[in-house]
Amino acid sequence: MLVLGIESSCDETAIAIVREGCEVIASVVASQAALHAPFGGVVPEVAAREHLRAIDLLRCEAMRQAGISMAAIDAIAVTRGPGLIGALLVGIAYAKGLAIGLRKPLIPVDHVHAHVHGAFLGLDARHVETLWPALALVVSGGHTNLYSMSGPTSFKLIASSIDDACGESFDKVAKLMGLPYPGGPQIEKLARSGDKSQVPMPRMVERKSQLVFSYSGLKTHVANLLKMDQQSVSEQRLADICAAFQHEALGQIIRKSSAALALYPESRSLIVAGGVAANQQFQALVASEIGLPIYFPKLTYCSDNAAMVAAFGYYLWKKSGPDTYAALDWDAYSRYVYDEV
Ligand code: KG4
Ligand code: ZN
Repeated sequence: MLVLGIESSCDETAIAIVREGCEVIASVVASQAALHAPFGGVVPEVAAREHLRAIDLLRCEAMRQAGISMAAIDAIAVTRGPGLIGALLVGIAYAKGLAIGLRKPLIPVDHVHAHVHGAFLGLDARHVETLWPALALVVSGGHTNLYSMSGPTSFKLIASSIDDACGESFDKVAKLMGLPYPGGPQIEKLARSGDKSQVPMPRMVERKSQLVFSYSGLKTHVANLLKMDQQSVSEQRLADICAAFQHEALGQIIRKSSAALALYPESRSLIVAGGVAANQQFQALVASEIGLPIYFPKLTYCSDNAAMVAAFGYYLWKKSGPDTYAALDWDAYSRYVYDEV
């Protein structure tokens, strides 16, 4: 079964074609990062207009890469939320038009959940069946969510952030340092030449039993450090701060994942996805600290892409069947629906 995926929730327009939930036939992503960089963050209206300009060009490019026509597509999957409403509406309206015009079922998917499926792209579908029950982390610019999963479409949220998301804190700290958006890769790069022991960092939510994440205190701590240093922050000092910040930002996730593993000892694997999963220090920490088989997406599928959307759409379809997706009278949502998971 071939699913066409469409992603437009933030600043990446993406189209992909995925076979049986794991095999990527084509994947194209157009990043708007350069367009938003002068503003230090994503400008919603600029994002929506750029999606509108690019989306059909990208679909044509994906079809060309795959060497197929739309007649070969069995279903379409699109990100329904969470994200910037104007940006989501472009992808959803486009997807609904395609579904109506081509008489194909349209599967709406949650973007945060779809990130988890980024980790299965390129794996054997039979192997994916062996991973459950699993713990899954989505660590992105908007969310820091930890799930217990009994299968590829069953998400039980067991921890999330009470304030900023992990990736958001990387972006905010980078902005405080005058580094460009997105800040995560910039901080990771600077941290490589830093010495974390030079800068004490507070430990966030230390109590083991408290299964939540928190990042705003860490960001405020860095803001205060920079204020105290005033104009005279050397390159080495910045690198040291980055290393210490990064260590605690990621260390917190390791501590909470270990605590969750004690509560869910039946877990057979840990899946780690979302933009922050691209961080090499994070990958090394998870591998050394968590005693489970670990699944990260390939680097290209850590950040926003449509292959993860198509993959998740496939599993939803497999579980519920085509009749579930006949209706098109559904709306986008901008915020993650915490009480429905
Ligand atoms: O998943 P994603 O592409 O978009 C959202 O759904 O939010 O994640 C983007 C986030 C940004 O906050 C970015 O700074 C962060 O992922 N990020 C990183 C790294 N690469 C991207 N954070 C830390 N280290 C990285 N190497
Ligand atoms: Zn994302």
